[in-house]
Amino acid sequence: MNSRTELPANLAGIWAEVGRAHPHESATLHVLGTATYVDDVAEIHGTLHAALGLSTQAHATFTTIDLTDVKASAGVVAVLVATDIPGRNDCGPIIHDDPIFADGLVQYVGQPLFVVVADTHDNARRAARLAQVDYTALPAHLTPESAHAAQSYVLPPMRLQRGDAAARLAQAPHRASGTLSVGGQEQFYLEGQVAYAIPQEDRAMRVLCSTQHPSEMQQVVAHALGLLAHRVNVECRRMGGGFGGKESQSALWAAAAAVAADKLKRPVKLRADRDDDMLVTGKRHCFRYAYDVGYDDSGRIVAVKLEMVLRAGYSADLSGPVATRAICHVDNAYYLSDVDLRAFCGKTNTQSNTAFRGFGGPQGALAIEYAIDDIARTLGMDALDIRQRNFYAEAGRDVTPYGQQLDDNVIYPLVAELETSSAYRQRRDDVRAFNGTSPILKKGLALTPVKFGIAFNVNHLNQAGALVHVYVDGSVLVNHGGTEMGQGIHTKVMQVVAHELGVPLAQVQISATDTAKVANTSATAASTGADLNGKAAQHAARQIRDRLAAFIAGQYDVPAASVGFADGSVLVAGQVIRFADVVAKAYLARVQLWSDGFYATPGLHWDSASMTGHPFSYFAYGAAVSEVIIDTLTGEWKLLRADALYDAGESLNPAIDIGQVEGAFIQGMGWLTTEELCWNKDGKLTTHAPSTYKIPTVSDCPDDFRVALFKNRNVTDSIHRSKAVGEPPLLLPFSVFFAIRDAVASVGDYRINPPLNAPATSEEILKAIEAVQLVNTP
Ligand code: MTE
Ligand code: HPA
Ligand code: MOS
Repeated sequence: MNSRTELPANLAGIWAEVGRAHPHESATLHVLGTATYVDDVAEIHGTLHAALGLSTQAHATFTTIDLTDVKASAGVVAVLVATDIPGRNDCGPIIHDDPIFADGLVQYVGQPLFVVVADTHDNARRAARLAQVDYTALPAHLTPESAHAAQSYVLPPMRLQRGDAAARLAQAPHRASGTLSVGGQEQFYLEGQVAYAIPQEDRAMRVLCSTQHPSEMQQVVAHALGLLAHRVNVECRRMGGGFGGKESQSALWAAAAAVAADKLKRPVKLRADRDDDMLVTGKRHCFRYAYDVGYDDSGRIVAVKLEMVLRAGYSADLSGPVATRAICHVDNAYYLSDVDLRAFCGKTNTQSNTAFRGFGGPQGALAIEYAIDDIARTLGMDALDIRQRNFYAEAGRDVTPYGQQLDDNVIYPLVAELETSSAYRQRRDDVRAFNGTSPILKKGLALTPVKFGIAFNVNHLNQAGALVHVYVDGSVLVNHGGTEMGQGIHTKVMQVVAHELGVPLAQVQISATDTAKVANTSATAASTGADLNGKAAQHAARQIRDRLAAFIAGQYDVPAASVGFADGSVLVAGQVIRFADVVAKAYLARVQLWSDGFYATPGLHWDSASMTGHPFSYFAYGAAVSEVIIDTLTGEWKLLRADALYDAGESLNPAIDIGQVEGAFIQGMGWLTTEELCWNKDGKLTTHAPSTYKIPTVSDCPDDFRVALFKNRNVTDSIHRSKAVGEPPLLLPFSVFFAIRDAVASVGDYRINPPLNAPATSEEILKAIEAVQLVNTP
């Protein structure tokens, strides 16, 4: 810490607003139901409501859309198609291959063709179904396998090689090889996609949007309207969840609402119905793997060859960075000397898959965990022993396949702590004993580790800005580029500012994320929101504090370095003065009481051709133990107990961080178990509502759920030495999946590796049990 800003000894280290378990800044409003989401904002007189007309074909050309019935439907004011867009018909984030409205070609069932605007939401939805389109069907790829077989990709394949995997494999004493399939996942934010576009004077546009990325919404709307960015203003106070689904794919809704509002010169709200939301937007990428892992007698891995085929959907969206993150997480917590890792982004005629908590990281890491699980069973050893044998360790075993050296590895002590606190070894014996006497119900247990890289894997995105205002009454308003989706970023950033200015948290307020306040922001994503915006806000607040310190020190003729700020007071020359009084005096003396702040993460570099560099600022670690019970006759199962230990560094807010770990754990468990996406033979997603798509509910949470934070301090100079928490804990429920696989294996006396794919639905569990029984039958 800068010595000028050190607190006097009597308060240093005693007073803090960071590190405390403050409730979420909107907790009370959430509970009362008075927190405003886009659809809660009072509608302006004359507001119209929009709905999208969707393709019914997976892949087809068309020449005309007959809109006669749509236009004649009750309450309809206008219908707009691709040619009505005044600017660019595109809402893609990186490669511009996402039309707002299909123009002559549809590429999936659910692709938007037009927007219909009506007096009410229901009238718009009714009308949207009445279009007649003269489709000419084209052949479609409905699975990643089919796209891969035809070498149909949305971007060139990727490959990361280190050492000589082929040679080391050929010489390896043992091989674990096979295939695995892991499903995708719907984000299922509770608040669906929504945008409310309000025309301003002289063709300017204001959009209230549920989005993780206001700056990109501003760009997309500006391009669609043919305007410069400075005429478009996008605001987001909060989302009812994003989970990655509003990183890029809020753009379609913002653009369609804005195009309609611009044309009609009236406010237009476009709020997706749940079915439409699921039919239109992309999800987590499902993966297909072919793995070949060489290992020695002790279970130590000597080489990994892995091919991953992703379901990208019809366009690139964020599939490139997702595949990159997948490749960079195949190592998970293990040192892999010789690797040959490939990723293929299959172009399928389905929704364009996108960000989802973990962003490919979970899919990459799951493959190696699966192979390790195979190895353990084949060698007749406990999987935890195999894992420990392969952990990143001392010099020589501390460099990732992509060349980043670990300088913060805590996987050994973290797992050791969890092994003890969860009584893992004892419970392993108990599970075996139980299974020995229970013919139908079988228990399973697994401990899995996580290592997750923190930073956007696209370098320039690692930047953030903030504005801090101190008003003359001593109250503080913060604005920054991050968006609130329930994860508590605003609470954390407010804590950072309160801490810096030495005022209680109650004296600090946050205002909605707004492109007119902080410009050119990155998406709140990659778990970096609090890291980046916290640093930017700290930078802003520190400048104000330094000005106040210099001012008041001058008044008392003492050095500025001797001035302290704590608990709503300023300490100067042995006196304690209220912060508000110092501020009031400083105002009269014309001291600037507001400041901007900026932060860019140092030390990152990445070479995409060789897939090497230093893509991450640091790593977050964790581990979990899960114990399940399965019914071998029905495939039903229950998570009995879960213990999770997560490394949040010096946590900014342990209450929020524990909530993040719990939420991510249950969400990841849903992905690996009950959440199954199905498309029919025509390419229509048939699981497009909670009636057919099963997310976890409170009754799926384990009765015994023990979540703790690992005592640690970030080696990297992150905000107050904390670590990110948003995504990495989503990998903790690997332990649930492998506990299920362990229970299934018990049916074959642990001698056969069950062919269990994810999601491990009851059907999948039964299939795996049958496969094990078949092999096991003498
Ligand atoms: N938590 C809640 N409650 N709602 C969300 O939508 N999104 C997750 C995670 N936690 C999410 C959440 C995802 S995908 C990311 S990248 C991070 O929050 C983003 O926020 P952060 O960077 O501020 O942690
Ligand atoms: N996470 C989320 N979004 C991103 C990333 C990432 O790692 N890289 C580029 N966009
Ligand atoms: Mo999170 S998938 O990076 O929005």
